[in-house]
Amino acid sequence: MSNLQIPREFIQLVLTRTELVDLIDNRVPLRKKSSNNYFACCPFHTEKSASFSVCQNKQFYYCFGCGAHGNAIDFLMQYDRLSFPEAIEALAKQAGMEVPRTVNAAPQSLISPDIYELLATITKFYQTELRKSEDAIDYLKQRGVSGLIARDFCIGYAPKSWDYLLQTFGKKPNERQQLLDAGMLIKKEDGGYYDRFRERIMFPIHDRRGRVIGFGGRIFDKGEPKYLNSPETPVFQKGHELYGLYQVLQAHRQLQRALIVEGYMDVIALFQHGITYAVATLGTATTAHHLQNLFRYTTEIIFCFDGDEAGRMAAWRALQITLPTLRNDTQVRFMFLPEGEDPDTLIRKEGKTGFEQRMQAALTLSSFFFQSISMQADLSSMDGRARFVNIATEHLKHLPSGILQDMMFEELAKKAHIDVTHLKKPQGTSYKKTVHPKARSPSLVRLAMILLVQEPQLASNIKEDLPALDIPGAALFTELVENIKQYSFPNTGTLLEYWRDRKERKLLEKLAHIEHMIPVAGIQHEFLGTLEQLRKLAYKQQIKQLLAKAGQNNLSFEEKNLLHALIHNKKE
Ligand code: GTP
Ligand code: MN
Repeated sequence: MSNLQIPREFIQLVLTRTELVDLIDNRVPLRKKSSNNYFACCPFHTEKSASFSVCQNKQFYYCFGCGAHGNAIDFLMQYDRLSFPEAIEALAKQAGMEVPRTVNAAPQSLISPDIYELLATITKFYQTELRKSEDAIDYLKQRGVSGLIARDFCIGYAPKSWDYLLQTFGKKPNERQQLLDAGMLIKKEDGGYYDRFRERIMFPIHDRRGRVIGFGGRIFDKGEPKYLNSPETPVFQKGHELYGLYQVLQAHRQLQRALIVEGYMDVIALFQHGITYAVATLGTATTAHHLQNLFRYTTEIIFCFDGDEAGRMAAWRALQITLPTLRNDTQVRFMFLPEGEDPDTLIRKEGKTGFEQRMQAALTLSSFFFQSISMQADLSSMDGRARFVNIATEHLKHLPSGILQDMMFEELAKKAHIDVTHLKKPQGTSYKKTVHPKARSPSLVRLAMILLVQEPQLASNIKEDLPALDIPGAALFTELVENIKQYSFPNTGTLLEYWRDRKERKLLEKLAHIEHMIPVAGIQHEFLGTLEQLRKLAYKQQIKQLLAKAGQNNLSFEEKNLLHALIHNKKE
C-alpha cells in the first residue's frame, strides 16, 4: 500500500527494540569473536570461511566476501525475502508492537480502507452480469474457458453502459470519489464521470491475500484497446503485482517452480490444463519487484516468450533485470514458443505433457546469456572473443558474488578460450584498506563521517555549529551532524534506516563498515581532533576568500572586522 505509511518514529522504535544479533542468530547461528562482534558463514553467498560479521554496537551486519550489509530490516528483507513493510511488521510482532499506519497527504486523494470492500463488491457484480450475458458466455465458451476456471479466477462481465457502476455504486459524491480512487471511473473534462470498463470480459487481479486490487478487461467484440487495465491506484501497482499468483499459491503449499507468461488468457488456459504455476505480468515488462516477489515462494522461475525477434529482445531485457536478483539457490530458465503460438493456443494443442516437455527443454540462464552475446560478437576471431569477454563481463558484474558468478566466469573463460584468471572479475569492496588520519582534507571529512556513522553518539560532542566548508562531503557531514543531533540515533543501524530513501545511503553504508583501525579508547579523541582540523581548514578558506576580495578593495566594514578576527583567532 503506497499511501498508507508507517510512521518513521515507529520504525526507529521497532529497531531500537530489536537485537540484531538474536534476530540473525535464530536463522544463522553466530559465533562470538570479540565483545561485540559475531561471525558466521555468509547466508547470502557460498563460502567455507566465515566472512559474515555482525556488530552488536552498530546493529549492522556486513559480509566481507559478498558485500551484503544492513540493519535488522535489511536482514529480513534479504534473508526472509520480505518486503519493507513486511519486515517492519515482523520485527514489530516480535517486539509485541502493533504497526500504526498514517495516511500521508500525498498528491493522491485520501483513500478509504473500504477500497478493498468496494472492489470485492464490484467483482461480484461483474460475475453476476456475466451469468446474464449470453454473448459474453459464448465468447468464453468459444475460447474454451470452463465454468470451473471462470469461477476460480472470478471472471466477470462489465455490461455495455457508460454509467453502470456510476449508477449502482456512485450515487453520493464520496462514493464517486471512492470509485475514482479505485480506478473504476474516468473523470470527464466537464466534471462528470463515466465507467472505465464497458462491454468487456473482466479479469479481477488479486493480491497475495486474495483481495481484488484491480482489473484487466478484454474486449470481445471489435474495438480498441484489446485489453484495458486498471490504472495505478493506492492498492494496485503494476510493477509489483502478478496476475494469477494468488490462485497459484492457493494450489500449492510448496511451489517448485513458477512460469512467467504474458497474458491473462495464458495463465487461465494453462491453469485449466493442469499447469497451475503460471503467472502473468500486467501488460508491463518484468520488474525486479516481480522477481523478488516470486522468489519468496519458489527457487525456480521459467520465463516464457514468443519465439520471434521481439520475444528474444524481451527475454534479454528480462535476463538483465534478473541478474542482480539471483542467488546460489535460485534457477532461471528461458522458454521460447514456436512462432505464432502463445501458451494459450499451445496448451490446447499439446496438453500438459507436451507443454511441460517444451519447458524441460528451456534454455538455462547461462546458455541463453552466452548464446545472446555470441550473436553480438564472433567467437571465431581474436577480436570477437575480446569483445565477447568485454560484453559478458559488463553484465556478469551485476551478479551477486558467489558460486553462480564464479561459474559464469568459468564458463565465459571456456567459451573465449582463455584462462579464467585472466578475466577481470569485479573486486569486492576493499575493506582491508585503512584510513590514514593524517590524510588530506577530503579524507578528513571522510574520516569524520566514518566515525560518526559508526558511532552516532559522537555528535553530542559537537557544541558549536560547524563552519561552512567548501570541500567535497562537507555539506553531507553537516547535515549528518544535525540529523543525529535531532534524532539521537543510538547506533548505526537506526541512523542508516533514516537515510533509507536518500541517494547518500549507499555512501553512508560504505562508511559504516570501513575498518578505521582506531582503538576504541581513542575514537572520541580522534573525532574531536578531526573536527578541530576541519574548523581550521574552514577558517583558512574564509581568510583566503576575504583576502582575495581585499586585494580588489572590495571588503565591507564587517568583512574587514571578520578578517581581522579570523587572522587573530588563527594565531591563537
Ligand atoms: P488474447 O488475444 O485474449 O489471447 O490475449 P493475449 O494475452 O494472447 O494477447 P496479447 O499477446 O496481445 O497480449 C498479452 C498481454 O498484453 C495481455 O494479457 C495484456 O496484459 C497485455 N495487452 C494486450 N493488448 C493490450 C492493450 O491493448 N492494452 C494494454 N494495456 N495491454 C494489452
Ligand atoms: Mn492469446
